[in-house]
Amino acid sequence: MLRYILWILCLLIQPLTSHAIYPPSIASQNGMVVSEHYLASQVGADILRQGGNAIDAAVAVGYALAVVDPCCGNLGGGGFMTIRFANDKTVFLNFREKAPSDATNHMFHQTKDSLSGYKAVAVPGSVMGLDTALQKYGTLPRNKIMQPAIKLAKGFTLTANDIQRLYYDYHSLKQFQSSPTIAAIFLKNNKPYAAGDIFIQHDLAHSLQQISDQGTKAFYQGDIAKAIVASSKKNGGILSLQDFVHYTAEELPPITCTYRGYTIISAPPPSSGGITLCEMLNILEGYPLSASGFHSATSVHHITEAMRYAFYDRNQSLGDPDFVKNPIKKLLSKTYAADIRQKITAHELPTSSPAIKNKRPEYIETTHYSVTDKAGNAVSVTYTLNGAYGAMVMADHTGIFLNNQMDDFTTNTNTPNLFGLIQSENNSIQPNKRPLSSMTPTIITKDNKLFLVLGSPGGPRIITSVLLTILNVIDYGMDIRQAVDETRIHHQHLPDVLAYEKFALSDDTLKILAQMGYHLKLEKNWGAVAAIAYDASNHTYYGAMDDRRSLGKVAIP
Ligand code: DON
Repeated sequence: MLRYILWILCLLIQPLTSHAIYPPSIASQNGMVVSEHYLASQVGADILRQGGNAIDAAVAVGYALAVVDPCCGNLGGGGFMTIRFANDKTVFLNFREKAPSDATNHMFHQTKDSLSGYKAVAVPGSVMGLDTALQKYGTLPRNKIMQPAIKLAKGFTLTANDIQRLYYDYHSLKQFQSSPTIAAIFLKNNKPYAAGDIFIQHDLAHSLQQISDQGTKAFYQGDIAKAIVASSKKNGGILSLQDFVHYTAEELPPITCTYRGYTIISAPPPSSGGITLCEMLNILEGYPLSASGFHSATSVHHITEAMRYAFYDRNQSLGDPDFVKNPIKKLLSKTYAADIRQKITAHELPTSSPAIKNKRPEYIETTHYSVTDKAGNAVSVTYTLNGAYGAMVMADHTGIFLNNQMDDFTTNTNTPNLFGLIQSENNSIQPNKRPLSSMTPTIITKDNKLFLVLGSPGGPRIITSVLLTILNVIDYGMDIRQAVDETRIHHQHLPDVLAYEKFALSDDTLKILAQMGYHLKLEKNWGAVAAIAYDASNHTYYGAMDDRRSLGKVAIP
């Protein structure tokens, strides 16, 4: 009887407490690691258990993902790290790749050259970024942080999901077969490995060991740099040893803005992520999204227009701040957002949208992971080779895939890049310049307390995946698990297409949107948000790894 009364009481109380951003996700008070590969998440959780802080764990995860998720985790790419310390101090680490010093504007006469082969490779930043973070903000010695990755490179057991991701998600099998260096590692007698096989990457273990012993010198001045430069020269690339020696990662103040009382801390240029995210949020703040209803035609209209305008600004004006002046103040201003809302009401488009036929990109990947520790430090990292396995080149004896980040530049006027983005001269190729990125490692606070850590892969869809997850939590009151898994929509100004995932929009809604003039396109699911929500009232973290990623895991120490 008592149980029955309690049950009735629970039912009655539930609606009052239903704004549950926290349960039913995995919870921990000691910190948390959410990444796209369960072995890497486990590495991070182990580091936390050994007393490391969130930065230690994030660096260890970065190296581990380069081993267990080689399409995306990397040493030969670059990325961004947003850190918020428990004392509310924030730091952004820019380790985006740089164009080689011999690079020239319009050096790519054929699109394919910015996508594969050595010309597509920009000077990698990941090792400099991870090591800088560790030296400045970590607490454990490098050998302890890198040991798990080295061990994994000496062999780990492949699951069926690993096999799927290695060879079939990105149709990479044929490409592996066409490179003897890659085939020697990634294939067994020129055939795919099978679930249950032990996957050994001796060369990568050796490279990691060199970095562990000698630090960034090994990668930027030692044998690794020399091997990459020699291979680049032999194969038509333009990388020089000086490019490696002079590579720098830098600390920048993050982009910040407010949304309905929350503070957003995100990626500044050379990422477009923070500015575009904030511009969209500023526009949307003027609409009662929650009252309009989740994915109703009205909400979708407002969200899509916010995306369209913000992407227009992104594509028109942003570039590496060391080379161009970004109109950050204007794009982040609430007045500017109000002007845009008026244009939306007046059905005024940012420009006439030429019907450029952008080929829909393949599902090429990047990776995002989120880390927190017991003390309340939070780290949000997105890093990438750009396309899966980058330029599909690997210098002999390194085991390191190299990026194809040169394609993120405006390689030619009015020519869409891998993600269909048409960008401006501000993002043109210049020696030592960093290509504009969409990576958006983000941290959100409320009343100066941590609230959310999140990010995603997906090229330009990173920014909209992060946006929608935030709206799902703040406007629609979803718990973090629902917010991350929920269906998505995307618009990036050009092509003038409103992409939607299966089940994202009902038939009635689609009809209304089509009548409004939207060009709607059902597409295969995208993005992979890795998020941690924090409940300051009981110092508890709740994690969610996107259900679009079967290998991902929320790990706790
Ligand atoms: O930095 C960027 O914006 C891209 N290189 C990211 C690539 C990416 O997310 C690929 N995933 N689909």
